[in-house]
Amino acid sequence: MVKICCIGAGYVGGPTMAVIALKCPSVEVVVVDISVSRITAWNSDQLPIYEPGLDDVVEQCRGRNLFFSTDVEKHVAEADMVFVSVNTPTKTRGLGAGKAADLTYWESAARMIADVSKSDKIVVEKSTVPVKTAEAIEKILTHNSKGIKFQILSNPEFLAEGTAIEDLFTPDRVLIGGRETPDGQKAVQALKDIYSQWVPEDRILTTNLWSAELSKLAANAFLAQRISSVNAMSALCESTGADVTQVSYAVGKDTRIGPKFLNASVGFGGSCFQKDILNLVYICECNGLPEVAEYWRQVIKINDYQKSRFVNRIVSSMFNTVANKKIGILGFAFKKDTGDTRETPAIDVCKCLLGDKARLSIYDPQVTEDQIQRDLTLSKFYWDHPEHLQSLSPGTVKQVSIVWDAYSAVKDAHGLCILTEWDEFKTLDFQKIYDNMQKPAFVFDGRNIVNVEKLREIGFIVYSIGRPVDAWLKDMPAVA
Ligand code: UDX
Ligand code: UDX
Repeated sequence: MVKICCIGAGYVGGPTMAVIALKCPSVEVVVVDISVSRITAWNSDQLPIYEPGLDDVVEQCRGRNLFFSTDVEKHVAEADMVFVSVNTPTKTRGLGAGKAADLTYWESAARMIADVSKSDKIVVEKSTVPVKTAEAIEKILTHNSKGIKFQILSNPEFLAEGTAIEDLFTPDRVLIGGRETPDGQKAVQALKDIYSQWVPEDRILTTNLWSAELSKLAANAFLAQRISSVNAMSALCESTGADVTQVSYAVGKDTRIGPKFLNASVGFGGSCFQKDILNLVYICECNGLPEVAEYWRQVIKINDYQKSRFVNRIVSSMFNTVANKKIGILGFAFKKDTGDTRETPAIDVCKCLLGDKARLSIYDPQVTEDQIQRDLTLSKFYWDHPEHLQSLSPGTVKQVSIVWDAYSAVKDAHGLCILTEWDEFKTLDFQKIYDNMQKPAFVFDGRNIVNVEKLREIGFIVYSIGRPVDAWLKDMPAVA
C-alpha cells in the first residue's frame, strides 16, 4: 500500500487528499496540520471548510484510507510520498515586502521532512511557490539527507473554491513537473500512477520542474488579467452608455476568446490571484525584466481601482456622505459557494465605507461574525501568517453589525451593496426591501445579478457595474 502524507489541511490539502483517498482505495492518505482545531474539525461532522460535495467524499473514506492527524512527524516519517500544502504568504517585512513570497513555512517543512525521514521519499510541492523553490527545497533535503534519497516534484493545484470537488474529479489537466534524470522520471511516474486511477492519460501533463512552477503562476495571472480587462471595460461602458454584459457576451462569442471568466465585478479576490501576481512581478524584477513586471502589476492596479471606483460611486451618489448612514452589505465571501474571505473585495469596500463613517450591517450565508470582524481589523497580508492569527484576538468594529438574513441587513438602510453573487440574492423580494428602506433607496450591485429595470420600476436608484448609469448617478459623477 502506497502511503501519502500531506502537510497542511487547508482549502487545497484537505479536498485534494480526500479525492485521492476516494479514487485510490489502495493508497493510505494522512493529512497533517499544526493546527489542532483544524484537525479536530476535519475529524468531526462540521468540516473546517465549506465546499459543495466535500462532506460526502470525506464521509466515504475517512477512517478507511483517509486520516487527519496532528502527529506531523510520525506520518511524514512513515510516508512514501509527502505533499506540502502549507501557507506561502506575501512577505510583510524585509526584502521584497508586499510582493515576494515568504517561504518560512515551506523551509521548516522541508527541514522537518529531512530530519524525521528514515526511508526514501518523493516530496511534492502543492502550494503555489515562486519559480525555483523546488531547487531550494531540494538543496535543503539533500544537504540534510543522511543518505536518504529525496525526489522533488511540482504538482500545482488548479482547483477553484466552490467547485473544488468537481475540479478534482474532472480536472482540465493535472500537471507534474520533475527532474529530467532517471530517478526524477521514476518519481513523476509514481505520481502519475496515482492520478491515472481516475484522470485520463492525455490530461496528465509532465514537464520539467520550473515549467510546472511557472505554469501555475501564469495560469492565475492570465485568469486575473481577464477579469481586470473586463473590469477596465466596465468603467468605459459606464462613461459611454454601453452595457458591459452585452460587450462581454459579444467578445466571448469569439471562440478564440471564449465565454468564461468575463463577468465584470467589484474586483477579484481569493487567496491566490493577488498573491501569485505579486510573486510574478517580484520574480520578473529579480530577473531584470521591469517592463514585464509592470505589465502584470497593472492587473492588480485595475483591481484596486475597481474597488475604489465602486466605493466612490456609493459615496458620491449618496450626497457625498455616508457618515452615520446604514448600509446593508449582502455577501462577504470572495465569491459564492464558499465561506472563504481571503482577499475578498468586501474587505476593502467595507473598510473604505467605515473610513467614511458609514454604519454597516453585513449578511453572508457562510461567513461567521468572528471572521468578518477579524478581516476588518487585520493588517494587509496577515491572513496568510498562521503565527500572527493565533496571537491575535479578533477585534471588534463598533459601526459593524453582523446579521443572519438579508432582510435584516437592509432594514432601515439608506443603501444596499451586493458584494458576493450568492444565488439567494437573485430571488430576494425587492419590493419588500424597498418598503423597509430609507428613501431615496440605493442599490449598488457589485456582481451584476439584479434586474436593473425591475428595481428602477420599484423606485430604487441602481448602480450596477458597467451598466448604463441612472440619471441620478450621471449628475453625481464618481471621482476616481
Ligand atoms: C495553501 C497556501 O496558503 C497557498 O499559498 C498555496 O498556494 C496552497 O496551499 P490553502 O490550502 O488555501 O493554500 O491554505 P490554508 O487553508 O491556509 O492551509 C494551509 C494549512 O497549512 C493551514 O491549515 C496551516 O495550519 C497549515 N500549516 C502551516 C502547517 O500545518 N504547518 C506549517 O508550518 C504552516
Ligand atoms: C483561482 C483559480 O481559478 C484556480 O485555478 C486556482 O487554483 C486558485 O485560484 P479561486 O480563487 O478559488 O481559484 O476562484 P475563482 O473562481 O478563480 O475566482 C477568483 C475571483 O475572481 C473571485 O473573487 C471571483 O468572484 C472573481 N471573478 C471570477 C470575477 O470577478 N469575474 C469572473 O468572471 C470570474
